Amino acid sequence: MEKILVLVKPDGVEKGNTGAILARLEATGTRLVAARMLKISRETAEKHYAVHRERPFFNSVVEYITSGPVVAAVFEGKDVISVIRRAMGATDPAKAEPGTIRKDFAESIERNAVHGSDSPETAEYEISLYFKPEDILSY
Ligand code: CMP
Repeated sequence: MEKILVLVKPDGVEKGNTGAILARLEATGTRLVAARMLKISRETAEKHYAVHRERPFFNSVVEYITSGPVVAAVFEGKDVISVIRRAMGATDPAKAEPGTIRKDFAESIERNAVHGSDSPETAEYEISLYFKPEDILSY
């Protein structure tokens, strides 16, 4: 079954939107199969965002994602990556559709409330940064 790594980012946690964001994701009909709260280390953040290493926003996004607690979660389901990313909305909240998480909770392209893996390969890599295989539960 397809899986996706979700992060409720520091702005989402700090503003008390974690529960609302996870509720919207659960309401997609996909299944929450792992979750934990943590402060991401610089080393893990640099691995997570390694594909963006050459981009001008790399240092800033690493600083930001390590600036406060996040909630990491794994959702599972049919086409879960596209289903969850649709519920999240566009990366830039100014471009996000009404009713999406980023339209309602994000402040800016960087402080954009949530992260979701963009492909099955990325999801597998990102899940391995935050969870051991036995942390993923089936029910
Ligand atoms: P995320 O899905 O976590 O993956 C990369 C992150 O970089 C992205 O969300 C944004 O929060 C952040 N970011 C900051 N500036 C930009 C930008 N100009 N284009 C894309 N992503 C950006």
